[in-house]
Amino acid sequence: MAQKAKTSWSAADSAQLYGINQWGGGNFSVTAAGDATVSVPFPGGEVQVPLPEIVQAAQDRGHSLPLLLRIENLLDARIRLINESFYAAIKETGYQGSYNGVYPVKVNQQSAVIEEVRRYGAAYDHGLEAGSKAELLLCLANLNENGLLICNGYKDREFIDLGLWANKLGYRCFFVIESPAELPLILKRSANAGIRPLIGLRIKISAQVGGLWTETSGDRSSFGLSTAQLIATVDQLRELEMLDCLQLLHCHLGSQIPDLEDIRAGVREASRFYADLATEGVPLRYLDLGGGLAVDYIGNQSKHSHSRNYQLSDYCRCIAQTIKDTLDLNTVEHPIIVTESGRATVAHSSLLFFNILDVMRYEPISIPVQSPTTAHPLVARQLLIYKNAENVDLVAGYTEAMENREQIRELFRAGQISLRERSLAENLFLAIAQNLNERRKQLEQEPITLSGLQQSLADIYYGNFSVFQSLPDSWAIGQMFPIMPIHRLNEYPERRASISDLTCDCDGKLDRFILSAGESPTLPLHSLIPEEDYILGVFLMGAYQETLGDLHNLFGDTNVISIRINDDSSFDVTKEHSGDTIAEVLAMLEYNPTAFIEGFRDNLEKAVKHGKIDVAERRQLLSQFTACLGDHTYFKHEEF
Ligand SMILES: Cc1ncc(COP(=O)(O)O)c(C=O)c1O
Repeated sequence: MAQKAKTSWSAADSAQLYGINQWGGGNFSVTAAGDATVSVPFPGGEVQVPLPEIVQAAQDRGHSLPLLLRIENLLDARIRLINESFYAAIKETGYQGSYNGVYPVKVNQQSAVIEEVRRYGAAYDHGLEAGSKAELLLCLANLNENGLLICNGYKDREFIDLGLWANKLGYRCFFVIESPAELPLILKRSANAGIRPLIGLRIKISAQVGGLWTETSGDRSSFGLSTAQLIATVDQLRELEMLDCLQLLHCHLGSQIPDLEDIRAGVREASRFYADLATEGVPLRYLDLGGGLAVDYIGNQSKHSHSRNYQLSDYCRCIAQTIKDTLDLNTVEHPIIVTESGRATVAHSSLLFFNILDVMRYEPISIPVQSPTTAHPLVARQLLIYKNAENVDLVAGYTEAMENREQIRELFRAGQISLRERSLAENLFLAIAQNLNERRKQLEQEPITLSGLQQSLADIYYGNFSVFQSLPDSWAIGQMFPIMPIHRLNEYPERRASISDLTCDCDGKLDRFILSAGESPTLPLHSLIPEEDYILGVFLMGAYQETLGDLHNLFGDTNVISIRINDDSSFDVTKEHSGDTIAEVLAMLEYNPTAFIEGFRDNLEKAVKHGKIDVAERRQLLSQFTACLGDHTYFKHEEF
């Protein structure tokens, strides 16, 4: 499509380009002044706060970029929406049971998140889900009085004992049995403590869901009981006169399920299990459907693995209606619906901001007016195409220039073309590509053969962050997150770029971007202004990224702040956490930073002895080394 003129570019054009009004889901937008903003609903109307203002407030408090921001209001809004949408669906469908949400802590276990889930979720009896002993302890210390505690995963003796005592304390703590071997252990510890357990059985259903996590469902999924194992476990509990303990049926369909029809099929199958067990006298009360509620990362409401073709209200209505329809056929009482939505609860509330440190441009450095007399005929031919670039056929010119470049490189490898000639030829190719690209932008319909042209000219913007620490899923599973500049949005973004991080790893890059026109290997960005920070924001990244992140190249946790936005557009910085220092990161790898200083001191002493440095230099170096251990791991802007 022909591009809009640079001079008439507005913030609304940027909003359209980056698709913020689609994936932002009403939480994010762009002001006429060109700043990305967060919007929070209040009874008196929407309140908007520009994101650059929040970044500045963090910097004023000493938290340099990269920075992770948590917005408490957005987390609260998701908890409210999930609970209230289920209440509405229950009313609308005439469902006779109720809803109890739980938050699976593995999705983001950070204390600021868990404390807010507990505080705000109390009004909805929002519970927690634990998948390990450490998570169980976290849940026991943070559970709402009336919230459910769902225990998935492997359970050792201590785990089981703690869960049993939680029941004695009055919590509803369910052990979800995922393999037949778990039951004897639970029964033994329960007899020992004299406390009857609350038991859930996790089933494997055969309905398979689409999306990135399709293997979580179906016969070969890793977790859950086969139908035969389920029946054997039920019979065993009946024989032991402990069937009353079995009150919950659990089924996790998958994560980020894009298609509502897949959810409906899974819920129908799970409901059939529930109906038949209830009919044969199992006193079930809860049907736990696990996670799966998707986030529309690309904002196009489709069956794409990064999207979803339903709204939250459709999801809730589909679940209530499907359970009701299935159970009514067997006149079975409707259960309490439980869901373990993680991603949809926390994704929106966290953002990452990072600054750009440098740019590599793919453009010619200098072009001679005339080709040197000794130039190889292929180089001379490239110069001719360059001079004619205004008139050559776009596709034919680009194809020939590429072929010539390849042949020139081949001749260079064979020693038949000099390094200087190759340098001239590379410059010429970039100049030709640039000219043709300007003409391509004017086309209404772009020929498929030119699709690589823009990409071959794209800049590389170097960002002050680590993909492996802050966005591990983008590297590990190709997860895309919306990314865009958070300021200068009323200026035309004249550059196209991919983004590289600070690690010395070629995988440390972002080259799949979400634009309203569709997925793109490059992101439209602005040229850097000397001495000014250029800041990009990564949105919807609150789920799974923080704990999965690692220390590749020893880049540690970034600075973090939590804010609460007030109805007068002010905001309070409610929590702040300084990122890892180099000493802290080294200590995580079992080094002793004090011993580091000693080791360095010994080296300096030797250098003094051999006359390489004097004692004043030794003193300065030692204090620099010691100060550096206390620094953060990311790039620090300082006067040179
Ligand atoms: C048992 C269980 N419950 C809940 C979740 C959370 O899923 P989601 O983030 O899709 O809501 C998961 C994650 O895969 C899970 O394994």
